Amino acid sequence: MDYYWRDALHDALRRNRGDAHHRYFQLATVDEAGWPANRTVVFRGFSDDDQRLQVATDARSAKVAQLAAASRGEICWYFTRSREQFRIRGSIELHGTAGPGSAACSSLWNSMSEAARTQFFWPAPGAPLAETEAIAESNLPPSSFLLLELAPERVDHLQLRPDPQRRQVSALQQGTWHAQAVNP
Ligand SMILES: Cc1cc2nc3c(=O)[nH]c(=O)nc-3n(C[C@H](O)[C@H](O)[C@H](O)COP(=O)(O)O)c2cc1C
Repeated sequence: MDYYWRDALHDALRRNRGDAHHRYFQLATVDEAGWPANRTVVFRGFSDDDQRLQVATDARSAKVAQLAAASRGEICWYFTRSREQFRIRGSIELHGTAGPGSAACSSLWNSMSEAARTQFFWPAPGAPLAETEAIAESNLPPSSFLLLELAPERVDHLQLRPDPQRRQVSALQQGTWHAQAVNP
């Protein structure tokens, strides 16, 4: 069967699910001065049509301002059990509690644990340390809560386990994925 990166990623998720860290990846953006900006985030799943990767984030965080200026990013995701890396590049959209994408935003909020939700009621991330007032809880997502969705355009998949190692680069061209095996 032909290689398809999405199947490979679903396989990796299944094979690594015993590893508590398998849902963490790094997400890089570009800041206003052209510097790369990279941070760890939690993979929250795929969009309903399986086309986009989802992350929960804070509207007040630096990455959101960076994405307003350059709506591109790259995920770097290493699966320790199966020893493979996915670098997934694509355009990024943010969805809040109003406008298109608000239903998906609310549905992500509803799926999150109370501990994860609490952070969105904290003072602004990255601002000088502030005393925290008693935290207001809500079943509705606060305006600080955003669903971040990355729509892949290029995927570089490196597998260290086979001997020799295997590397596949997939690119989306006119709506169709083309995969090319390359030297690792
Ligand atoms: C294990 C781990 C998981 C994290 N998950 C998220 C996440 O899902 N969403 C998020 O916005 N930040 C998450 N963070 C915090 C980010 O790494 C980062 O510190 C924060 O988003 C601010 O980044 P920024 O200033 O570049 O926007 C996580 C950090 C760690 C260490």
